Amino acid sequence: MSAAKQTAAPAAKQKVAFSADKIVWHPSPLLGQVTLVTTCNADGSSNVAPKSLVSMMVFHPPVLALGCNLTHVTAQNIRRGGDFVVNIPGAELAEKVWASHELPHPRPIEAAGLTALPAEQVKSPRIAECKAHLECVCERELVFGEEVIFLGRIVAASIDREALEAPDPYAYLRLFAFLEEKTYGVVERAERL
Ligand SMILES: Cc1cc2nc3c(=O)[nH]c(=O)nc-3n(C[C@H](O)[C@H](O)[C@H](O)COP(=O)(O)O)c2cc1C
Repeated sequence: MSAAKQTAAPAAKQKVAFSADKIVWHPSPLLGQVTLVTTCNADGSSNVAPKSLVSMMVFHPPVLALGCNLTHVTAQNIRRGGDFVVNIPGAELAEKVWASHELPHPRPIEAAGLTALPAEQVKSPRIAECKAHLECVCERELVFGEEVIFLGRIVAASIDREALEAPDPYAYLRLFAFLEEKTYGVVERAERL
């Protein structure tokens, strides 16, 4: 008997229809890393908002995508100012992150209980308490109804030195992902093959 014939077929799992509407996903089959996106208001002050529709899209040049509602201050600031910073919080900031999205505008970084740090290459500031920062210049946008995808070219990146020196950088970073309303999952450590 061949090896293939000896292998038992996996038990058939029943597939059921599932909504394509992310808003009602439970459970969420696709993760979106929680970030804090900072932009500049017209008067030069900062704006902060949590965004999880964020992902790398292109290696060379380094381009990420950010999904945002067109009515959001973040979208208006990116359209006017042309840049933004994707700040990477650790899970210990989860409560502050969630609280920040309900703060009224103007919503500078300090209103969220966080500290502004000038960026290296763009006008939008970084957030000191976050562990890594991707400074982006908006290259293109794609509009879908009331939402927009910004394609941002990363022009500078920075990270806490501790992340590079920790035995497990991921245990230091504690990246976390939006799962569903008021629910997130945390990367506590790296698993290596
Ligand atoms: C964890 C989390 C992730 C979010 N992700 C997004 C997102 O990716 N895109 C979006 O448009 N809104 C997202 N929101 C909602 C916005 O943060 C919220 O509407 C915010 O008030 C918008 O702020 P702004 O007008 O300053 O941009 C998210 C909210 C939370 C709590």
